[in-house]
Amino acid sequence: MKRVGFLTSGGDCQALNAAMRGVAKALINTLGPDGVELYGFLDGYKGLIYSNYKQLTAKDFSGILTLGGTILGSSRTPFKTIKDPDENGVDKVAAMKQNYYKLNLDCLVILGGNGTHKTANLLREEGLNIITLPKTIDNDLWGTDMTFGFQSAVNIASDVIDCIHTTASSHSRVFIVEVMGHKVGWLTLNAGISGGADIILIPEIPYDIDKVVEAINERTRRGSKFTILAVAEGAISKEDAALSKKEYKAKMANYKYPSVSYEVAEQIREKTGIEVRVTVPGHMQRGGAPCPYDRVFASRLGTKAAELILQGDYGYMVGIKNRELVKVPLEDVAGKLKEVSPDAPIIHEAKMLGISFGA
Ligand code: F6P
Repeated sequence: MKRVGFLTSGGDCQALNAAMRGVAKALINTLGPDGVELYGFLDGYKGLIYSNYKQLTAKDFSGILTLGGTILGSSRTPFKTIKDPDENGVDKVAAMKQNYYKLNLDCLVILGGNGTHKTANLLREEGLNIITLPKTIDNDLWGTDMTFGFQSAVNIASDVIDCIHTTASSHSRVFIVEVMGHKVGWLTLNAGISGGADIILIPEIPYDIDKVVEAINERTRRGSKFTILAVAEGAISKEDAALSKKEYKAKMANYKYPSVSYEVAEQIREKTGIEVRVTVPGHMQRGGAPCPYDRVFASRLGTKAAELILQGDYGYMVGIKNRELVKVPLEDVAGKLKEVSPDAPIIHEAKMLGISFGA
């Protein structure tokens, strides 16, 4: 008999349900319905802290392969305060351990991104058996070439750029599409290339606004009526990147724009006189059904997690490296960010396509 808990933490994304279904189906098919007890903690780590859970059966995992969101709900429980008692004095780490032991779990399967992995690793250090699955549209988890949710989000952001293309071609304007991705540019880079953006701004390559304007003017000179920019929500100018953490924080305290795209838009307008429009698809990028790639990928990750559980081999994130599923020690994953290298071949290839990074 294996007793396994699940929780989904942090921002949701597509294929969370597909991944849990993969684990559950593989366990049930191997051990039989009576050989496994499954529990779902609700709303992320909160469910584990406050003992808010439900027992899950095979039926709960039926019909959810294509369902977006998470059947367990999610929430953000910041790692930096995880060791602080809550407002009622509850020791959160002790409570999570207690609830794990109360259910006599063999393993807890945690689906999450960067912050989630820090807490997952802490629970491992505290002696719990943990397996994690790499979830995030940002694709910024260290130790895996790909996270599930990412390709679905690339599809959505690309669709947005495609739609903007048709309206952009009717007007002599500059259009900016702001893409999610937190502090990294994977999503913007891939959606930008896929959507045929002319300029792509990502956090890993701080932009020079004059270079951005130069690229727009060059397009105009060559007869293009419009320019499309894919701008990462975390894009940063060269000047801002040169500031100390303290100086940058002070600047942001008085920041007058809703986000970086609006600042870029105002500067382009001032420097070129061209009308600029900003589109922010926001959480749409995390919504809807997972794309086929993510359904397959998340299902595969789920079965690999089940294999590790069956072997009693805990303390890993299941990821993918060079197209092979791999187990990566949690201590190696936690606290590390996978950024786009400015020297990566894909950046070089994008430049060969004529895409400007404003640098
Ligand atoms: O990590 C996923 C993500 O969608 C990021 O791309 C984005 O910066 C963030 O979450 C938004 O968080 P929230 O849903 O808490 O607003």
